Amino acid sequence: MTELFSPFTLKDVTLRNRIAVPPMCQYSARDGYVTEWHQPHYTSLARGGAGLVIVEATAVSPEGRISPEDLGIWEDGQIEGLSKIAHAIKAGGAAAGIQIAHAGRKASARRPWDGDDHIMDAADGGWETISPSAIPFGANLPKEPKEMTLEDIERVKADFVAGAKRAREAGFDWLELHFAHGYLAQSFFSIHANTRTDEYGGDAEGRGRFLLETVQAVREVWPENLPLTARFGVLEFDGRDEETMAEAAELVRKFKHAGLDFLNVSIGFSTTESNIPWGDAFMAPIARKMREETGLPVATAWGMDKPADAAAAIDNGDMDLVMIGHAHLANPHYPVRVARDLGLDVGASLLPAPYGSWLAKWRDMRG
Ligand SMILES: Cc1cc2nc3c(=O)[nH]c(=O)nc-3n(C[C@H](O)[C@H](O)[C@H](O)COP(=O)(O)O)c2cc1C
Repeated sequence: MTELFSPFTLKDVTLRNRIAVPPMCQYSARDGYVTEWHQPHYTSLARGGAGLVIVEATAVSPEGRISPEDLGIWEDGQIEGLSKIAHAIKAGGAAAGIQIAHAGRKASARRPWDGDDHIMDAADGGWETISPSAIPFGANLPKEPKEMTLEDIERVKADFVAGAKRAREAGFDWLELHFAHGYLAQSFFSIHANTRTDEYGGDAEGRGRFLLETVQAVREVWPENLPLTARFGVLEFDGRDEETMAEAAELVRKFKHAGLDFLNVSIGFSTTESNIPWGDAFMAPIARKMREETGLPVATAWGMDKPADAAAAIDNGDMDLVMIGHAHLANPHYPVRVARDLGLDVGASLLPAPYGSWLAKWRDMRG
């Protein structure tokens, strides 16, 4: 019997099972504010049976948005809409998480279905991007970012702290810092984006400093009894992975010492020169390694949706939660499908009574 549907407790938060919905941008906000799109979206995900639903990358400042349509958490007026989402997730039976983010040099872009490329000009709604060094990402994101001053660094850390406070005020119980995917924090850690010669660049300690200081500062305001987590790109698939993972593990051990409770293991995406071995569960061994090397509970996404893979990842100790993204967009009740495919009799109980009781009855009638 798999442990995939057993509860998972971290600090004062208990998830009903080990399936989590990772953050997925909806690019449907107005001026950073929740719109009529978000409420049913998150409600249906939470009703669908996952143990944890993490709200999409939510920008800690307007300049930190990937696109003009990103959710934001930079002003108090945004709390009300977010609190409705947190409430809806909990009412659906899942724990309510949120990812707070700054997109760095990948900001000021059109949303994916409008081109996914940089908006170069202010006249078209673009804005100046910032990054540890003035190095563009390249490809569809060629805009040269401004190299951050020490004042910029302090300001962005303060934005993360203010975002964390607002997330708590909105009622979220699980906070994820976005340290992955080539956005601002990942850019500090990455040799592909950070060529600074001051204390925020250079060796791994310097390149990790912004991330570590952000964890330390956020931990001071995020309640001790609630999980503080980070999504971190621990490798780039750029031919330098052993070294990057060793540096990442060392940094995560410092995060842990500073009070981080959980790691969502991911990919750096800070270079166009990577060779990613896309496939089922390809990040599972990486997650396991980070779990072993840091002693933190971990999760990963990226092709974990095959029911047998998800169950095996939990049962063989690769990870503590599995993150399932795309499959939840196609079917918000995906955990029910996972249970059914594994031959488990838990599917109906994952759903709220107006759905679940009828599914159970139908199953009994049909035998
Ligand atoms: C529409 C969409 C939006 C995404 N937005 C985010 C995001 O806001 N933050 C993040 O860390 N990852 C984001 N991702 C990556 C997902 O969290 C996840 O890692 C990815 O979909 C791989 O998991 P899967 O194979 O189960 O889909 C997004 C993915 C999709 C499909």
